[in-house]
Amino acid sequence: MKTHQYEAVVVGAGGAGLMAALYASKGGAKVAVISKLYPTRSHTGTAQGGIGAALGNLEEDKPLWHAYDTVKGGDYLADQNAVHVLAEEAIDAVIELEHMGLPFDRTPEGRISQRRFGGHTSNFGEKPVRRACHAADRTGHMILQTLYQQCIKQNVKFFDEFHVIDVIMNGGVCVGVIAVELGTGELHVFHSKATLFATGGWGRVWSVTSNAHSLTGDGAAVAFRRGVPMQDMEFYQFHPTGIYRMGILITEGVRGEGGVLINNRGERFMEKYAPNIKDLASRDVVSRAIYLEIREGRGIKGKDYVYLDITPETVNRYLAEAGETRRLDRETVEKKLPDILDFCRTYLGVDPVKEPMPIQPTAHYAMGGIPTNVDAEVVIDDKWTVLPGMYAAGEVACVSCHGANRLGTNSLVDLVVFGRRGGKAMAEYVKGIDYSPLPANPAADIEAEIARIRGSKGGTRPGVLRSAMQKTMMEGVGVFREEAGMQKSLDTIRELKSRFQTDLHIDDTGMKFNTDVIEAWELGCLLDLAESAAASALNRTESRGAHSREDFKQRDDEKWMVHTLISRPQGLAPDGGAASFEINTNKKVDQSLAESDERFKPKVRSY
Ligand code: FUM
Repeated sequence: MKTHQYEAVVVGAGGAGLMAALYASKGGAKVAVISKLYPTRSHTGTAQGGIGAALGNLEEDKPLWHAYDTVKGGDYLADQNAVHVLAEEAIDAVIELEHMGLPFDRTPEGRISQRRFGGHTSNFGEKPVRRACHAADRTGHMILQTLYQQCIKQNVKFFDEFHVIDVIMNGGVCVGVIAVELGTGELHVFHSKATLFATGGWGRVWSVTSNAHSLTGDGAAVAFRRGVPMQDMEFYQFHPTGIYRMGILITEGVRGEGGVLINNRGERFMEKYAPNIKDLASRDVVSRAIYLEIREGRGIKGKDYVYLDITPETVNRYLAEAGETRRLDRETVEKKLPDILDFCRTYLGVDPVKEPMPIQPTAHYAMGGIPTNVDAEVVIDDKWTVLPGMYAAGEVACVSCHGANRLGTNSLVDLVVFGRRGGKAMAEYVKGIDYSPLPANPAADIEAEIARIRGSKGGTRPGVLRSAMQKTMMEGVGVFREEAGMQKSLDTIRELKSRFQTDLHIDDTGMKFNTDVIEAWELGCLLDLAESAAASALNRTESRGAHSREDFKQRDDEKWMVHTLISRPQGLAPDGGAASFEINTNKKVDQSLAESDERFKPKVRSY
């Protein structure tokens, strides 16, 4: 088994990981990035519509307005110190990306072009504002390519197609990770002073999702199994517009350019749910509205989808009705939304400039994850105790700048702002400290677990368990929830975990590129995270943001202005039964902006 030594190890090569690696390296640390994918295939590359920053290039805008929208969009659960950092540092981060060479679209004057996005407004909710800086509908792709080039220029060392499967702790300090080299099946020990997790989300828990196959929550799961609590797992966002049945994302930028949602009566139904900003309400509001239309029989052809219409004819009718002088033409749609046109033409045979797109909400983004402070240091309790040597940034982390519901474009802001902070913090931390020792046989536990999976000859293939998990989570822990449904999902997940332990069947027993074993291991991660999401959701007896309970319809600020911290017993494998989770709800939401500004205090949301 090979052992490597790097001062800073970054796990994951999406936007957060690359930004952290870049800044740790610029700060003088010897850095390695470990990625189970080739870096430019990371999921940041699928982010479409834009990155939010109050540049004010097309109309007046301010970071304070951005912060207000983020707090309100998050249904007041966001930590306001983190929101303040996000909104303030977004501007500088976007300009830095531009200076690195990111090819943003331009205004006629040559400034970075900006478009509208859900929940982003000017003057504390007055009207939609153009805040999303974009490179057509490939903004994430451009961020990823730009940051990867910068890391190469900076001589960051990459371990591509190395899959991290355990984190090494010694005496309460994080001292590295264990990875399997996919090409050979060999295990490698990475000994570090600082380790940052930037492994993204876990949308594959649900059957209809915008998340790629690789989004299996590995980083969160390995930390969880080694004693790190997960925060706010009940808050999982469904993006309103995924391609019907496939879940592939259709960017909110479509609505930002004027697109509208239409039911089977031809009605623009968001006028009813959000009279002020209509189709540009926050995602939780729009996803619920779509479900309600479908539930009340107004889905298209009586089915579980509605239309998203960006045909110039429809958009121009609504623009005229609203008294706007702007008009949309086919060329503009082709230029600003090329990828989504391509997806619809290829996968659906639908041409969005001529006909509406069939869409339904799709599991998209985890607001919860590994708890951190604003410097991306992992914190393990309600007293903000830092776990030395461990960091997290991006979707895997919960710095809680998104609260109970993230606004579109803020994921890209989150990963560049907090990735950069994490990289700087690691560079400082590793200076002048020695490597903490590795424990004896650091890979022994995970080696045994992988061998167990490889040798499993029970009766159930992983795909069967995965489909059952996705179905039950869709039914019980989706857009709308109630106690019996969540409990049923939780029970089902526990039964699936038990079968994962006792009845798994693996066909491929080889070492090289053994995706059978790796995908089974990833399924174990998903099961752990699904269970923690269902248990956290059952525990929160209110509706807030993306957590919408039919049996507790109101938000309860008296009781629930707190984060959920859920811990599981330590151990590498899903424990296959009634896990004795501990749930701690003593971590209060930071309301520092509200202390000096009434507008940041919780109030009933209306759009
Ligand atoms: O709709 C979108 O383009 C997605 C953006 C996001 O999740 O921030």
